[in-house]
Formats: sequence, C-alpha cells, structure tokens
Amino acid sequence: MSIDIVNPALNDYLLDHATPADDVLRELAEETHRVLPRNAGMQVSHDEGTFLTLLVKMTGTLHAVEVGTFTGYSSICIARGLAPGGRLLACDVSEEWTGTARRYWERAGVADRIDLRIAPAAETLRALPREEYLDFAFIDADKTGYPVYYEELLSRLRPGGVIVLDNVLRGGRVVDPAARDEADVVIRGLNDAIAADERVESVLLPLRDGVTVVRKR
Ligand SMILES: C[S@@+](CC[C@H](N)C(=O)[O-])C[C@H]1O[C@@H](n2cnc3c(N)ncnc32)[C@H](O)[C@@H]1O
Repeated sequence: MSIDIVNPALNDYLLDHATPADDVLRELAEETHRVLPRNAGMQVSHDEGTFLTLLVKMTGTLHAVEVGTFTGYSSICIARGLAPGGRLLACDVSEEWTGTARRYWERAGVADRIDLRIAPAAETLRALPREEYLDFAFIDADKTGYPVYYEELLSRLRPGGVIVLDNVLRGGRVVDPAARDEADVVIRGLNDAIAADERVESVLLPLRDGVTVVRKR
C-alpha cells in the first residue's frame, strides 16, 4: 500500500532517488489510479516496489510467494528480481483486479514466471509442500490474515530466506491504544510476536505505511 509522505517535496525526493520506473510500471500506476480511484491506494509505491526488487535480487530468489496481488505492481517488481528460472506464486481472490495484473505481466515480459492462484491465500499456502524451500515472500493482503500467512510462509522458508510484511504501522495506529479496529489489534499483536520470535531476525522500517523485513535463522 502507498501512503503519502506528509511533505510533498520529500515524497517527490524519495521517488526521484529510487531506480526509475519504466513505462510499463508508470502506465500500470496511471491506469490503476484512473480506473480504480478508490482502491488505487492499495498499490505499492515505486520506492517500495524497488525495495522488493532489490531484496529479491539480494536473496538470489528462485521460489517467491506474494499474498495480495491487486493490479500487479509489486508482483512485477518481485518477478523482475528473480534469478534465472525463478518463479513467483501470486495469491489473490479477485479475478477482476488480477485481470489487469495479467495484462501488465505480459507487457513486462514476466508472465511466464508467475503462477496466479485465485483463492483465499490461507488455502493456497496450506496446500504448498511442507518443506523449507521458499526464498522470499511478500505479504500485502487482508490484515487479519497476516498471522496465518506469516506462520504458513515461515514454516516453508529456507534458512536465510526473507519475508516482507506491508502496512505494519497501520497509519500510525499501532501506537494508539484507542485504535481497537480488528486489523489494528491483529497487526499490533503480530508486530510484537515477530520482534520476540527467536526463529527469525527482523526489523520494522518506516517505509511508507511500515514494512517489516524478516530473515529466517
Ligand atoms: C493491498 S492490495 C495488494 C496490492 C499489491 N501488492 C500491489 O502492489 O498492487 C490487497 C489484495 O489482497 C487481496 N486479498 C484480500 N483478501 C485476500 C485473501 N483472503 N486471500 C488472498 N488475497 C486477498 C485483495 O483482493 C487485494 O487485491
């Protein structure tokens, strides 16, 4: 999800100091904002997308999973970082939104590396092999599902593999005890659990709406 940095000049500065988006990503962002103005804020920002590409490259990822694909911005960023022969499993429940993703995967030249599963992500993840084979995962879907996604993915992550979780600051509500929305409560609890989780090393970064990077020991 992309949230606006309070200072617009700083926002532009951040976006200007990531490797630039190409025409495909620029046009995907433009189409998503034009056709789905009420949902477009769910799309990752370009700096966050670039961060995903870099992490996928740094981990030499062959097996990646994304939970929450929407119109495809983050999936293109992940797919572009894969090692030769690598594959991305993209999980979502919306045929409509991922229809846009499929068009842009073709245009980006990554369609042949992505498998899309339309089903509740918990079902898709539980059906994956029970082996430590995943190199990289990105969680950016329904917030109340995050604890299940985290456990299912972590148990299948190889040692040294990485999970990235988006929107872990919940617009700052994680530090507001009055914020009792179910998603806020779940994410607050998961943030605490991950910080204390001895199976992993982790850091919560103030990138956009907060991104936690987890590395399995
Ligand atoms: C924040 S958007 C993902 C944005 C995407 N990462 C991007 O950069 O464009 C969340 C997505 O999660 C999907 N979603 C919601 N509940 C889900 C579930 N239970 N299983 C799988 N996907 C789900 C929604 O359909 C939506 O496309």
